[in-house]
Amino acid sequence: MCGIVGYCGYRPASVVLLEGLKRLEYRGYDSAGICVGTGNKFELLKKRGKIRELNELVGKRTLGDFGIGHTRWATHGEANDRNAHPHTSASGDVVLVHNGIIENYAELKKEFESSGQIFQSETDTEVIAFMIEDAYKGNLENAVREVLPLLKGTYGIAVIHKNEPGKIVGARNGSPLVLGIGEHEMFLASDVTAILAYTKDAVYLNDGELVSITKDGYRTFDINDTIIQKQVEQISWELEQIEKRGFKHFMQKEIHEQVESISRAFQGRLNKESATGHLGGLNMLPNELLGVRRVIIMAAGTSYHAGMIGAYLIEKLARIPASAELSSEIRYKNPVVEHDSLYFVVSQSGETADTLQAMREIQRKGGKVLGLCNVVGSTIARESDGGVYLHSGPEIAVASTKAFTSQLAVLYVLALSLARMRHLSIEDGLKIINALEVLPEKISSILKQTAHIEALAEKYHRYENFLFLGRGMNYPVAMEGALKLKEISYIHAEGYSAAEIKHGPIALINENTPSFFLVPDDLLRDKVITNMKEVKARKGKLIAVAVEGDLEIAGIADDVIYIPHTEEIMYPFLMVLPTQLFAYYCAIKLGRDVDQPRNLAKSVTVE
Ligand code: AGP
Ligand code: GLU
Repeated sequence: MCGIVGYCGYRPASVVLLEGLKRLEYRGYDSAGICVGTGNKFELLKKRGKIRELNELVGKRTLGDFGIGHTRWATHGEANDRNAHPHTSASGDVVLVHNGIIENYAELKKEFESSGQIFQSETDTEVIAFMIEDAYKGNLENAVREVLPLLKGTYGIAVIHKNEPGKIVGARNGSPLVLGIGEHEMFLASDVTAILAYTKDAVYLNDGELVSITKDGYRTFDINDTIIQKQVEQISWELEQIEKRGFKHFMQKEIHEQVESISRAFQGRLNKESATGHLGGLNMLPNELLGVRRVIIMAAGTSYHAGMIGAYLIEKLARIPASAELSSEIRYKNPVVEHDSLYFVVSQSGETADTLQAMREIQRKGGKVLGLCNVVGSTIARESDGGVYLHSGPEIAVASTKAFTSQLAVLYVLALSLARMRHLSIEDGLKIINALEVLPEKISSILKQTAHIEALAEKYHRYENFLFLGRGMNYPVAMEGALKLKEISYIHAEGYSAAEIKHGPIALINENTPSFFLVPDDLLRDKVITNMKEVKARKGKLIAVAVEGDLEIAGIADDVIYIPHTEEIMYPFLMVLPTQLFAYYCAIKLGRDVDQPRNLAKSVTVE
C-alpha cells in the first residue's frame, strides 16, 4: 500500500530516494515520483509505471540535498502521470506525498474549487497540499498541525516547503512511518527496508504523532505541539536479507527459505521436558490462559487461511471453541465479546487496515487481542495487548509464502501450549513436538521436486480455471493454493472443501477445468478419493498432492506430487509447498511479474 521515502543529508537526495523507492516498490507500484530540493529550488519528477520508468526520467542526474519520494497504489484516480505523487499546492510551494485515504477529500476540494482554484489530479491527496499552503504562516510544522484535524481518513504523509529548504515534516494516522537516524543525515520511510542500507537506528511513529527532520536532527511531537520522547530502536534485519541472493525472484527465494524460517519460528518455543510450547510476549499468566473459553482469530487473505488452520487445531487439541474470522467482516458485524474469549490477529505486515481496525473494534469492546506479526515495530504489533513475532525475516514478494508457514508454526505452538494446559498428555505433546522438529527436513525434500512441479506448470499453465480441493485442515490449504495461483498468474482458481464440490461447483468440471486435490493419508483419505472419482467421471483433469507410497492415487490422478508422510495434523505445512511452487512456475510461464503482480500491494493499509 504505497511507499514513502524522505531524505535530508549530504548524499544526492535523488539517489537515496530512488534506491529507497526501489526497496519499497513491493508495497505498491502503479506510479512513482520524487521531489528534490537544492535550497529553495525544487525539482519534481513523476511517472506512471514502475521505479525503472522513473529512473529513466531522472537519468544519470544526481539531484538535491533533500527531498521526498513515493511509489503509489492507487485508490482515487487511475494510475497515470497526473495522479502520481508527489502532489503540490496551487503555487507549488508545498509538495507532499501520502499513503492512505482521505475520506472527506471531495468536500474539502469543493471549498477550493468554489473559489476558482484548480486541481491537477483526481486524487484525494492533492487537497492536503492546498490546505497546508492555505494554513502556512511561515512555519511548516504549525501549518501541518492546523490541517491534520480537518482530515477524515488515514494518512502517512511527508511534506516540504520552498521557504524551509532542508526540512521534511512527517505525520501518521493509520499508515506507517518510520524515522531513520544517520550521521548528519535523516530518513523517513514507510518501512525499514528503505533505510536499512544507511542506518539501523529507527524511531517508529504512532498514530497522531508528527516528526520534523533536518539533516542534523529531528523532533517528534503531537498535534498540540507537545514534544514526544520516542525510543530509538535497533532494526533487527540485515541488508542481505532483503536482497534476492541468487534467486530469480523474491518469491522463489522465500519459498525456499521456509526450511530455515520455520525453524526460526519454533526456536526457543518448544519445550520437550514439559512437552509443551511457550510463547513469550503473550502477556498472559498460565491461569489466565487456562481461563480462556473461546479463541477467535482475525486476519485477511493468506493470514486468514493460516488462522483457519490455527483455529481448527486449537479446537481439536485444546478442546475449546475456536474460529477464524475475516477481519473486514468481524469489524462490522458488531461481534459479541465475552470476558473469557481471547482474540488473535494474524498479519505478516502488521499494517493491514482491515485487521488493525478489527483489533481496535474488539479492544474498544473490552476484548483482549494478541498479535502474530512478522514486521517488528508494526502498528498491529505495537497496539496489540501482547503477541509474538514470526521471525520469518523480511517477506518482499507480494504473494505470501514463508510468512504463511511461519504463522502456522506459531499457531501450532499456541495450540500445543493451550492443549497441554488442559487435556493433552505428555506423550501426545512430545509426539507433536517431534513431528514439528522434523518438518524442515521434510520441506527440504519437497523443495527438491521443483523440476517435476515446473513440468506440471508447463503442462497446465494455459488452463483458465482451476479448482483446489482439500478437507479438514487441508481445506484452508486448498483456499491458499487457489489464492497463490490467482494472485500471481491471474488464472482463475477456487479453493473448496473437497466434499462441497458436489453441492454445485462440480458443474464447472469438464476437460478444461483441472482440479488440484490435496489427499493426505489421513482419516478422510478415502472420502477425498471418492471426490476425485466424481471429478474424473466428468472428464476433469486431476492433479493430486499425495503421500509417498500411496500408489492408488497415481492410478486415479493424471499427475501426482508426492510428499513425505507425517503426523496427520502436520500436513498443511507440507501440502502448501507444491501449491506455492505450482503457482510460481505457472506465473513464470505466463510471463507475469511474479514479485509484484498487477493491482496488488504487499500491505493493504486501506479498507
Ligand atoms: C498474500 O499472498 C496476499 N498478498 C494477501 O492476501 C495478504 O495475505 C493479506 O493482504 C494480509 O496481509 P497481512 O498478513 O500483512 O495482514
Ligand atoms: N489515496 C492516495 C492516492 O490514491 C494514496 C494511495 C497510496 O497509498 O498509494 O493517490
